[in-house]
Amino acid sequence: MVERTLVLVKPDGVRRGLVGEIISRFERLGMKIVSMKSMVMSRELAEEHYIEHKGKPFYAELVDFITSGMIVAMVLEGESAVEIVRKVMGATDSRLAEPGTIRGDYAVGISQNLVHGSDSLESADRELRLFFPELYEEKR
Ligand code: RTP
Ligand code: MG
Repeated sequence: MVERTLVLVKPDGVRRGLVGEIISRFERLGMKIVSMKSMVMSRELAEEHYIEHKGKPFYAELVDFITSGMIVAMVLEGESAVEIVRKVMGATDSRLAEPGTIRGDYAVGISQNLVHGSDSLESADRELRLFFPELYEEKR
């Protein structure tokens, strides 16, 4: 099934100049960039985006980090996009991420792991509406 998913290059990825490298990994798999923007996330958007983690010990640090600089947000479209993106990203804890994945090749640790990808179709739909509301406006 052709799906859409949200990918974020996190502030560490932008700071380290890895935007092109990260995008090219998705492009070479044939994934289509439907829309893309760069921004500094507001705390409000960050708290909403990571609402599932509210109350966990790492939540405050996570919100601080994701709002600490410019990010690049994109809508990727392709066959099984949600699952493929998660596979290419690698495990959350970079120490466990396989070589050949983005996190396995470039990240160290668990907090600064370069990239976000929606973890299910339901998450993708919720997150895409947060970052790209203009794609969901009623057409008439
Ligand atoms: P993301 O949402 O950013 O794509 O990452 P993910 O699905 O691989 O991992 P998730 O469980 O959703 O966690 C979101 C982010 O929270 C930070 N985290 N820290 N210290 C910890 O135990 C811990 N656990 C998660 C990570 O930065 C992770 O990307
Ligand atoms: Mg997640």
